[in-house]
Amino acid sequence: MYSKEVREYFKNPINMGIIKDADGIGVTENEICSDIIKIYISTNKNNIITDAKFEVKGCPPVIASCCIVTDMIKNMNIEKAKNITAKEIIEKLNGLPKEKKHCAELVIKTIKKAIENIK
Ligand code: FES
Repeated sequence: MYSKEVREYFKNPINMGIIKDADGIGVTENEICSDIIKIYISTNKNNIITDAKFEVKGCPPVIASCCIVTDMIKNMNIEKAKNITAKEIIEKLNGLPKEKKHCAELVIKTIKKAIENIK
């Protein structure tokens, strides 16, 4: 059973969508469960993330984790955003079942890729 937080974000996801002129885009796919995540970020000249959105084909925990992470990194310095962990996301979601922890890890991998790909 998922936490109230996971269920809420699954029903009413925030930050879902695309950023047309994104500065960085990260895409990952889990080969086992075939969930796909795409995260878009915009930054300013001071290395602050000004916006973040995502598209996803996946399970409720992966959707909820995308909502949390895109919200967390807004107005955050790029260097700091690189250090967000799956554990932090899971805490904010009030826990994930053990077999769903990889969902938060996949989201972290995607955000790191988006940051690495900043033009
Ligand atoms: Fe694999 Fe959610 S079940 S990322």
